[in-house]
Amino acid sequence: MMLLKGKTGLILGVANRRSLAWAAATAVAREGARLALSCRSERIEENVRELARQLDRPLILRCDVTQDADLDRMPETLRRSFGTLDFVIHAVAFAQREDLAGRFRDTTRAGYHLAQDVSSYSLTAVARRVAPLMEGRDGSIVTLTYLGGQRVVPHYNVMGVAKAALDMSVRYLAADLGPEHIRVNAISAGPVRTLAASGIRGLSRLLSFHRAYAPLRRNTALEDIGNAALFLVSHLSRGITGEVIHVDNGFHILGLAGLDPEG
Ligand SMILES: NC(=O)c1ccc[n+]([C@@H]2O[C@H](COP(=O)([O-])OP(=O)(O)OC[C@H]3O[C@@H](n4cnc5c(N)ncnc54)[C@H](O)[C@@H]3O)[C@@H](O)[C@H]2O)c1
Repeated sequence: MMLLKGKTGLILGVANRRSLAWAAATAVAREGARLALSCRSERIEENVRELARQLDRPLILRCDVTQDADLDRMPETLRRSFGTLDFVIHAVAFAQREDLAGRFRDTTRAGYHLAQDVSSYSLTAVARRVAPLMEGRDGSIVTLTYLGGQRVVPHYNVMGVAKAALDMSVRYLAADLGPEHIRVNAISAGPVRTLAASGIRGLSRLLSFHRAYAPLRRNTALEDIGNAALFLVSHLSRGITGEVIHVDNGFHILGLAGLDPEG
């Protein structure tokens, strides 16, 4: 039996086939979910329409998460097409390239606000609007975060601060929406070479460091993220909310990496 037969979901953040959102989309579609894919701009929408041909006619929406008018339009469009909604996968983040290199202390006010607005506040903005569509559906909301919001990772800078706010938003939203039987969780993904990640200086070194020292000695694969998202939006995770699940081959458990345990 397909895990998500008869379920509908909204996925924000597909840009191309390397997107974590796309990994999630293919995993949940494989299990029978009907999907709406939301993308930021006309240019990205062209890519998404091309990719979407691999799925069963998903609804394609345009939504820049910094624009209230776009966000306000979304629930009505979803209601008209789906009636109700079972899950949301939020895989959206942005920071200025210059804020993902160099010293954190040089972050500008505008750069700080932008990173928070797109990468953190957008989860709350979306959750508030979709909650009424999830009434009586045992809904699930999943976002994507990173270890750089819990500990210092070189060059992650302003995005680390945004992820810390996002992680805490997950907990407040889980407490808020729990009585309506809506769960809210985050996947903390190990580094994957995507469009957004390639803006972080030193990504190649970060990837090889993970591969060398993560307990499972491998990099995070797109399918790892897709399958974890599938678990979190399915009834298999019914008892889990307010959680940040690390899908990073165990890297986050390390206190110190790089020392030879035999040495
Ligand atoms: N790739 C990694 O190593 C990694 C690790 C941990 C967490 N994440 C998180 O995963 C999520 C998805 O990123 P990704 O790595 O798949 O990269 P990606 O570039 O494929 O996806 C980022 C998405 O955010 C969208 N976006 C940016 N600004 C937006 C706006 N104003 N309105 C609407 N959408 C907007 C982009 O259009 C894009 O689709 C992000 O939250 C990212 O921080 C990524």
